[in-house]
Amino acid sequence: MKHFINIKDISSKDLKKILVDAKKRKNQRKNLNILEIDKDAPLKGKLLIQMFEKSSLRTRLSFYLAIKQLGGGTLTLRPNELHLGDGGETLQDTAKILSTYADGFMLRSDSDKKIDNFKDFLEIPLINGLSPSSHPTQVLSDIFTVEEIKKKSISKLNLTWIGDSNNVLNSLIAASVKFNFKLNIGCPKNYHPQKNILNWAKKYNKKIDIFNDAKKAAANADVIFSDKVISLNDKVNKKKKLSQFKNFKINEKLMKLAKKDCTFLHCLPRGPEVEEKVFFSKQSKVWLQALNRVHVQKSILLYCFGKLR
Ligand code: CP
Ligand code: NVA
Repeated sequence: MKHFINIKDISSKDLKKILVDAKKRKNQRKNLNILEIDKDAPLKGKLLIQMFEKSSLRTRLSFYLAIKQLGGGTLTLRPNELHLGDGGETLQDTAKILSTYADGFMLRSDSDKKIDNFKDFLEIPLINGLSPSSHPTQVLSDIFTVEEIKKKSISKLNLTWIGDSNNVLNSLIAASVKFNFKLNIGCPKNYHPQKNILNWAKKYNKKIDIFNDAKKAAANADVIFSDKVISLNDKVNKKKKLSQFKNFKINEKLMKLAKKDCTFLHCLPRGPEVEEKVFFSKQSKVWLQALNRVHVQKSILLYCFGKLR
């Protein structure tokens, strides 16, 4: 049994194996309808319970489809539907019941500590569906999307992140170590990534360039990534934070500073950080990016259930 909690804790070999499997499976179901099950139905009869402490559209739907296409099923919970949510039951007992009734647990949480605690008590695989410090399923799927679009290993590409130093960026930094790609970050001075993640990357001799000027960060990029300036449950002065990012908007002028065939990606939902002209341009591959979550999460599930081919 394997958990999928943080990219930095999973070996490059396993991460790459997940992507190879996702590519194979995606190709094999080109003619299948969305609810049709993969021929080998490797997770037949298996149940994934998902719980969301924060809103979600993509993660919820993509995990629903992912396990369904592998022959299993899912049940989605909200914390206010459980005794745990109002303090009427301990996390330990909740985890035991989840382990008794289901085969896997996917949690989107407001607390990294809660994810850790569930990991300690669960007897089934735990998948992190976004936490304050990381969004690993999103980023692994984004690596897949980049390689699919560019038709080459991500290690040969220059990636640029322009925006807030948040959970998605933390996972992207971890991925830059595991997949060995060049990463530029463009963000305001007081929004640099946390020292602990940069120091972790440094341990692996990873050089990440941080620019307080979006134009410098975008130069020569093969891919520009962005995300909302205000994340879910971000307890900040929103107006003030948005104004601090006013020079970090992705617009056509900025895209022109990158490589000619630069791709724009955004995990969604979006805010004012990207102009519509870019978001709806040919360079933007955000819909493919969203759909690929299904394919990659299928292989993440197989990794967790010990069934990766
Ligand atoms: N990108 C992403 O995780 O979207 P949701 O918040 O809708 O799940
Ligand atoms: N950084 C964003 C990602 C949403 C999918 C957030 O945490 O809200």
